[in-house]
Amino acid sequence: MKKRKTVVDILQMKGKETISSLTAYDCVTAALLERAGCDILLVGDSLGNVLLGYPHTLQVTMEDMLRHAAAVARGSKQALLVADMPFLSYQAGLESALQNAGRFLAESGVQAVKIEGGKRNQMLIQRMVEIGIPVMGHIGMTPQSVHTFGGYRRTGKTSRDAETLMQEALAIEEAGAFAIVLECVEHEVAAKITSELKIPTIGIGSGEACDGQVLVINDLLGYSLQPPPGFVKPAIDLAAMVSETVSNYIQQLKKS
Ligand code: KIV
Repeated sequence: MKKRKTVVDILQMKGKETISSLTAYDCVTAALLERAGCDILLVGDSLGNVLLGYPHTLQVTMEDMLRHAAAVARGSKQALLVADMPFLSYQAGLESALQNAGRFLAESGVQAVKIEGGKRNQMLIQRMVEIGIPVMGHIGMTPQSVHTFGGYRRTGKTSRDAETLMQEALAIEEAGAFAIVLECVEHEVAAKITSELKIPTIGIGSGEACDGQVLVINDLLGYSLQPPPGFVKPAIDLAAMVSETVSNYIQQLKKS
């Protein structure tokens, strides 16, 4: 059996092989995605919108995340598992952030955590890495700050914003993160950040130059009540397939 990917493996993929990452929130999906070759399974706090029906990720709790992260860990043997730290689990102080990050590794069995934000997290990332918690950064459109952004929008449009993003990315790298998500970053800016950094960039809506790509699995499969973001073209319409299959089943049932 293949051994589980580590953060070192992911770091070494930069410049050699495109890194594949998808969100997973449950055991079965985790098993299927890694069987298909997915390098990183991200237990995203997008589960708030995607699974739990919240309007944002802001309502997602540590307990929600730990439960889903543990389910993904039970279904997975080979992919690197990364869990999102939910809103307010790392912003309220260093001590509580370290405790919460540690719970993901100790209780749910993932190998790394992801936190949103750049420079402001530099010290926190450094401390997490020092005590053995690998960290993935996340900049650009960071959904936990949706109210500050005034909605979901693209980032890096002006040269000033582009420079800020570059500085944020460098700060995260310097702090010791093993990879960084670039969400809805203008493509040329993402390309520049990718070429400057030694750690891999994982893009979502940020163009093809990133070292890897991540998508919300429900967007890729067309399994959602909402239309997907503009940068995703669902590969299938799973929602329609489910509706049709269940409708056929019920019609058969009623006939018999
Ligand atoms: O929560 C999530 O699914 C994410 C990815 C979309 C990057 O953070």
